[in-house]
Amino acid sequence: MQLLNRFRPILTAIGLQLIVLIGLFLVIQTLWQGFSITLSLWTKVGIQAGGALLLSYIFRLPMWWIIIQFTAPFAIMLAIIFNLPTWLYPLAFFALLLFYWNSADERVPLYLSNKITWKALGDILDTGSSTKSTKPIHFMDLGCGFSGTLVALAKRFPQHHFTGVETAPLPYLVSLIRCLLSGHDNIKIQRKSLWDVDLSKYNYVYAFLSPEPMSRLYKKITAEMPKDGRFISNSFVVPDFPSNDTRILDDRRQTELHIWEIS
Ligand SMILES: C[S@@+](CC[C@H](N)C(=O)[O-])C[C@H]1O[C@@H](n2cnc3c(N)ncnc32)[C@H](O)[C@@H]1O
Repeated sequence: MQLLNRFRPILTAIGLQLIVLIGLFLVIQTLWQGFSITLSLWTKVGIQAGGALLLSYIFRLPMWWIIIQFTAPFAIMLAIIFNLPTWLYPLAFFALLLFYWNSADERVPLYLSNKITWKALGDILDTGSSTKSTKPIHFMDLGCGFSGTLVALAKRFPQHHFTGVETAPLPYLVSLIRCLLSGHDNIKIQRKSLWDVDLSKYNYVYAFLSPEPMSRLYKKITAEMPKDGRFISNSFVVPDFPSNDTRILDDRRQTELHIWEIS
């Protein structure tokens, strides 16, 4: 049951495509038998894509699923027309899996914090370390991606400690190499699930995930993080628990950094 729940978006997406396909089949039959009308190939593909988009919207799938639902019929038809070799499909699937390991299961895709966010995070650490205490900062990036955030902060604050965890194989490998090459000895990368991290060791925890894990994560944060710590979430709020502060950054997507003071 839990497994079924985890894969609900994929199953819903496939189910909606099938419903549209059945509807399309009935339309084709009716038009042919009643009016001797045949639809062109691309009209059929367009109806399939448009129908899947509409149903996905009605069923409130997330925006990135709606885009996939619309583009998939065109992509499949192009693959059939160009007769792509069959080994390309498992290869593409495997390559995507290495990057987007956590997308289906945890519903957290890979997208990265930008330089303006790195700078804003650094400013938050700066005010924190000057006004709160003189204790060294132990910063954790939960799901560190390619570790751009960690490298930028480790460079700016050589006196503090920066750790990231990542489970997706390729981002983990890139992070490891990037941190080694950066030459900073105050960064650590671990191949570990964020749910297995003991947060009591970190006075700053950063996460840029998705709406999905936020309630569960906040429970973990409040149960484990030390008093006086700060939890910073890029873009995603915690339902029913408003942050103490929100900074809106001057970048293209007006990134919001939500900050909770742990008390
Ligand atoms: C949106 S990206 C953010 C990357 C990075 N923190 C940044 O801000 O640039 C989220 C990352 O979290 C990772 N992730 C998702 N679930 C995870 C889990 N349970 N444990 C560790 N990493 C996870 C994903 O693989 C992805 O790299």
